[in-house]
Amino acid sequence: MVDVIGTYRERVASGQILSDPAQSSAAERLQGLWVKLRGYDPKPKEAPNGWVGKLLRRKQVDEAGEHPNGLYLVGDVGRGKSMLMDLFFAAADVPRKRRIHFHEFMQETHRRFHQIKRDNPEIDDPIPALADMIAGEAALLCFDEFQVHDIVDAMILGRLFEALFARLVVVVATSNTLPDDLFKGKPGRDAFLPFIGFLKKNLDVLVLDAARDYRRQRVHGLAAWYTPIGRWADAAMQRVFDELTGEMPAHTETLLISGRTLSVPLAANGVAWFDFHALCGVALGAGDYLALATHYHTVLIDGIPLLSPDNFDEARRFVTLIDALYEHRVKLYVSAAALPDDLYRKGEGARIFERTASRLEEMQSEAYLTLPHLT
Ligand SMILES: Nc1ncnc2c1ncn2[C@@H]1O[C@H](COP(=O)(O)OP(=O)(O)OP(=O)(O)O)[C@@H](O)[C@H]1O
Ligand SMILES: [Mg+2]
Repeated sequence: MVDVIGTYRERVASGQILSDPAQSSAAERLQGLWVKLRGYDPKPKEAPNGWVGKLLRRKQVDEAGEHPNGLYLVGDVGRGKSMLMDLFFAAADVPRKRRIHFHEFMQETHRRFHQIKRDNPEIDDPIPALADMIAGEAALLCFDEFQVHDIVDAMILGRLFEALFARLVVVVATSNTLPDDLFKGKPGRDAFLPFIGFLKKNLDVLVLDAARDYRRQRVHGLAAWYTPIGRWADAAMQRVFDELTGEMPAHTETLLISGRTLSVPLAANGVAWFDFHALCGVALGAGDYLALATHYHTVLIDGIPLLSPDNFDEARRFVTLIDALYEHRVKLYVSAAALPDDLYRKGEGARIFERTASRLEEMQSEAYLTLPHLT
């Protein structure tokens, strides 16, 4: 049987990953949860709404008693949180389980919330129905890159998570932010505090203080900007992609953006790889780039040509793309016809490109490359 600790040790023994005491003890903790969740398949009985339902549900939770705490894996970038969670998720012997990027889960949640409201105008509170839906799909939810940015999310999350825990859903999450620091300094945070308390009650917080940023280490010595375009640059880009995705199989992915889809030619492990024309040579806009920037922590772009008033549409999209990537602290690797400062030929539009060139320079700096991805 595939378990967490066995798989982790196997990877270390085969040299796929380096041995790290902090990761090893995190793997032990995940193993503990793995054991508790073997065959986990709670089926809360249908309970009526209202106070009778509330009492019944509470009783079920108490009686079930077997509602193990989830885990909140937190730490600096590249420490192996997603790797460990994925390893746990793959091994988890839970019939209904789901692993999803948290930003995507939030978007889906908003969509469903409004759909329930639209389809059932008589319901004033869609949260119980929404929680039933989510808990019906998965008894184990694994969230990558957990983060809370706006007050609407904050308000929905508090009540939704309470309802999910009452339905015995177990949550495992990775994050760069400690629960106590979530939504810190934002207006309305006080109303969010009960959620933080709730999160800490239902998830054990595990700080993954691994020895180093393994993502940086894997691409250590590899540049982020390859010029000129050609066989040498292609080989270097392939090497970057291989190092960043490790043994994770790469494939096409599809992002759902406000009802439309965006096809990502090759992606794995939070890394997406595009050809410049697929990204900036077709009618994509700020919304698409924002979706990319929140979904992937690293983006590779092949073959950025010289830009000028002659291919201004491509240049304009490229500017929008870089703004989105920069604002979300996405790490960027490219092959290009020139260095950032020489990429845009002087002329009309050169001014707007100055900021982009400066951002592109900064995005190659060590300081930028160690910033956490903002989802
Ligand atoms: N012990 C290790 N030895 C070698 N490579 C490792 C080790 N741990 C993790 N890695 C690799 O380092 C990269 C970063 O790991 P991972 O994506 O899990 O980090 P993370 O903690 O989730 O980072 P972030 O906070 O940015 O999401 C991955 O490619 C992963 O496979
Ligand atoms: Mg991660």
